Amino acid sequence: METAIGRVHLSIVQGDITKQGDVDAVINAANAQLAPGGGVAGAIHRAAGPELARACRPLAPIAPGEAVLTPAFRLPNRFVIHCLGPVYGVDHPEAELLASCYRHALRLAEAHGLGSMACVAISTGVFGYPMEEAARVALGTVLEEAPRLRTVRLVRFCLADDGALALFERIASILLPAPSGSSQHS
Ligand code: APR
Repeated sequence: METAIGRVHLSIVQGDITKQGDVDAVINAANAQLAPGGGVAGAIHRAAGPELARACRPLAPIAPGEAVLTPAFRLPNRFVIHCLGPVYGVDHPEAELLASCYRHALRLAEAHGLGSMACVAISTGVFGYPMEEAARVALGTVLEEAPRLRTVRLVRFCLADDGALALFERIASILLPAPSGSSQHS
């Protein structure tokens, strides 16, 4: 699904976050120590190579809702933005902490003058955040931040499977203004 929020292009796709070679930065669903883990963090560290863990070490630990930026090393991007999402049912208030991840990621991208980024559905794997609630927070935060963005022109949500893709698309069709001439609300 492709749509626009003002001058920001929003895209929602199914895919692998390590294969988004046309964007400046990718988001990592990190752990507090910014160490290689399972899921997204494991895939990103494997693809980026051991230099990534070395670059992360002095920046750790981070708290839920925070984000830090490193080079992307062997990934086909310039930067990785590492976000620590809330553990669902443990870190409160979950929605604010999750929103804070995306807000910080977008602001870091802006601070580095980046034009594009690809995001994963932070916290929806090991951290147990229900996908539909996470989609509302993630898309709602991009919608809120979009008017402030000066350099970021493309935000892509890159989702691991068809179920997550369908959910994000459905929530986007509810939250986001339909492009003129479109019938996406019908
Ligand atoms: N590309 C895109 N999305 C992916 C990929 C991938 N290569 N791999 C997994 N996902 C999806 C998952 O299906 C899930 O919906 O990303 C979402 C986030 O999953 P996790 O990686 O489990 O992230 P999170 O829930 O934030 O948990 C973070 O997991 O691996 C550990 O070290 C990590 O402790 C940290 C925790």
